[in-house]
Amino acid sequence: AADLFAHQALTGKHILITAGPTQEAIDPVRYITNHSSGKMGFSLAEAAAEAGAKVTLVCGPVHLPTPDRVERINVISARDMLAACEAAMPCDVLIAAAAVADYRPEVSAEQKMKKDPNSVDGMTLKLIRNPDILATIASRTDRPFCVGFAAETQNLLEYATTKLRDKNLDLIVANDVSNTAIGFNSDDNAITIVDRQQQQTNFSQTSKSKIARQLIDFIATHINKV
Ligand code: CTP
Ligand code: CA
Repeated sequence: AADLFAHQALTGKHILITAGPTQEAIDPVRYITNHSSGKMGFSLAEAAAEAGAKVTLVCGPVHLPTPDRVERINVISARDMLAACEAAMPCDVLIAAAAVADYRPEVSAEQKMKKDPNSVDGMTLKLIRNPDILATIASRTDRPFCVGFAAETQNLLEYATTKLRDKNLDLIVANDVSNTAIGFNSDDNAITIVDRQQQQTNFSQTSKSKIARQLIDFIATHINKV
């Protein structure tokens, strides 16, 4: 009965999900990225579609099949990801599962860079901040119910709670990426959900697809509480 209620709450709702890493170009053949596999975001997209939502999945470069009944938009950089999310608005729920590069090279060289014969010791690459996709969408007047992720290697709940507050989120999903069994590239996850009242809910280690269904059910029961 709880499941039925949860699923009905998402029927016809538009859920926007970000997933995977971003790639930030240094030159035409080189880039900065991270180890995000995209599995959590894709599992969430699948679970949300199964719950009857209209799902838009904006994802960085990953090698994963598109779940049934999910509209997938492929992007490369953080700035592309923000533009794709803004174009997909309005939505009822945003789940930001992407591992967005915090910085990008200030300039992306038009041609493949050559080693500088005058600097045999090394070279310096200047990086500048990328936009925060989640915080940008959460500050709009038509803001959706906003769910962030906090992947941390230390001070998990403290950092997660700070992100919830700073980005004006409804929920934050904290996960400990110092544990490689539940980290970036693994099939399993274990999470703690923190809400605005700082109430915590734990989902113990299981497959990312089961965690995704639990998280979607949790969102379904919380979406109308705000
Ligand atoms: N996020 C985002 N855009 C960014 C950076 C982060 O949308 N440019 C989102 C992530 O998808 C995640 C949440 O913000 O849902 C937290 O990301 P995280 O990297 O853990 O936190 P940051 O705010 O980037 O802080 P830091 O990396 O310094 O811990
Ligand atoms: Ca970050």
